[in-house]
Amino acid sequence: MSVFDEIRRQLDIVEVISEYLPLKRVGNSYATRCPFHPDGTPSFYVSPSRQIWKCFGCGKGGDVIKFVAEYENISYLEAAKLLAERFNLEVDFGTEEAEGKYYTALRKINEYYREELLKSDEAKHFLLKERKFSPSIVRDFSLGFAGNGYGSVDFAKREGIFEELLQLKHFYRTSFGKYRDFFHERVTIPIRNSLSKVVAFGGRSLKGELPKYKNSPNSEIFQKEKSLFGIDRAKDYLRDKNFLILVEGYFDVIRLHSVGFGNSVAPLGTSLTIHHARLVSKLTQRVILLFDGDSAGRKAIVEASKRLLKFPLDIYVVTLPPGEDPDSFVLKEGVRGLRKLLGDAKPLEKLLIEAFLKAPPAKRDSYLQIYRDLVREISDPVKAELWQREFRDKTGLQLFGKRKFIPIKRVEPPSNLSPQEIDFLLGLLYLQERVDLNSVNLSPEARKIAEEILRGDGKEKLPKWLLEMDTLGLEKRFKAAKDILAVDKPLMEETFKKLLHLEEKVKRGEATPEELDSFRRMLSALSEGERRLYQKFKERFKPDSGGL
Ligand code: GTP
Ligand code: MN
Repeated sequence: MSVFDEIRRQLDIVEVISEYLPLKRVGNSYATRCPFHPDGTPSFYVSPSRQIWKCFGCGKGGDVIKFVAEYENISYLEAAKLLAERFNLEVDFGTEEAEGKYYTALRKINEYYREELLKSDEAKHFLLKERKFSPSIVRDFSLGFAGNGYGSVDFAKREGIFEELLQLKHFYRTSFGKYRDFFHERVTIPIRNSLSKVVAFGGRSLKGELPKYKNSPNSEIFQKEKSLFGIDRAKDYLRDKNFLILVEGYFDVIRLHSVGFGNSVAPLGTSLTIHHARLVSKLTQRVILLFDGDSAGRKAIVEASKRLLKFPLDIYVVTLPPGEDPDSFVLKEGVRGLRKLLGDAKPLEKLLIEAFLKAPPAKRDSYLQIYRDLVREISDPVKAELWQREFRDKTGLQLFGKRKFIPIKRVEPPSNLSPQEIDFLLGLLYLQERVDLNSVNLSPEARKIAEEILRGDGKEKLPKWLLEMDTLGLEKRFKAAKDILAVDKPLMEETFKKLLHLEEKVKRGEATPEELDSFRRMLSALSEGERRLYQKFKERFKPDSGGL
């Protein structure tokens, strides 16, 4: 029996997956929404009898180990070890498995690179003087130098890790038939997985040789499209800081970590993939995109957001001054400048709407298109609706319509409602604020509609004109309407008491001509809503109940 069989035998798949996902019993199986693709309905099934899982939406499936591997973004073997540790299973992994050998080989070659860095004035000069990193941060990230590319091959042979590194394509054969290090003459940056194991390297050229950066090729233990540089540390920092900073480059991550923002990660020279986005969404709910301030950076923001919006993440954007990246910005402005910048981070949708409003008319179309494209990527229908509503409220434009630009039609509301009542109703409908209707002064017509809105009756029941009303600047309008319609209770009560007193006198025929006149004037000064409130007041304070 293999270790894997042993682990499967000792674990219950439902129990393990329940620790990750809320499972619901469905017949003989359990179901939930799939964590591996945007899933509107539960298409992820777990079968206790067969001890397997399967998603009928994206096709993924497997045993309990495969689930943990997929979910934690680690290899099958690592997942097995994780489970063995977490559930205290008695299994023996031995010492000779392939992945373990790779990790050992990479760890050892990394130590060699660190030694080489100490010997290379050129590489030290680059990191410490040119890039202005402190010796301690260089040590912390265990940056190194690959040397001429032959010494490391000899080292690997001596240490018995040559075969493993060759399998990882860490060495290649030159046209002279000699083996050479893939990263020769480069500064080496170890890339760690979320369990802090070195799984690959990045290599930065020293003097402008191209390409500027190289990465280890994909292998059994490293998939570039699933890896984020800095993830091993960010995991720890996220316990203190409840947001993740996404940047574009290795050196940006290192710089941010060096000034206390260990919650920063970067993809490895690719744009952000759906795998990255999922990984991020498991770590945090808030992401700040801190990309270059140029047009490429803006494009990268949109592309990254398309992936991130498929997951329940709030996206914030920070715009750097043109020509700066996070690394150069921190060097210039220090950590205080960075803090200020992060403090000014704006929600992505707000930023885009502002850009739209600021853009000259000829350019607005492209911003509208970007916004629309992003809304289409949002997997959460409620959020998609909010984005659309926000756009409409701020710009007065419908995002999706037959034509691109449909200014919302100006419809005529019924004349028996005041403008404030209309704004109030629109606010109730769209801003979803719970308002106590007794605190406002509404005509019976307005009150009826307001009650319908608050009951959450379907839109079919609401008057059509309401749904077609312009909602530009609604937040402000709603606030103003509430203020105007607000019932000034003490004042009203005084008025009503006086009115009621007069009314009683009038009814009993005891009122003087002056009192009669005053009664009529006061009554006619009441608005429709106030009159209605007065009726209620009278019911509460019937004279025979001794209320007055
Ligand atoms: P530095 O000068 O090192 O700070 O780079 P930069 O600030 O100019 O960063 P740049 O925007 O050029 O690159 C950002 C990230 O993209 C890097 O950290 C790499 O991960 C990746 N990258 C850049 N150039 C290359 C390249 O030529 N090949 C590969 N594979 N990745 C690259
Ligand atoms: Mn840079």
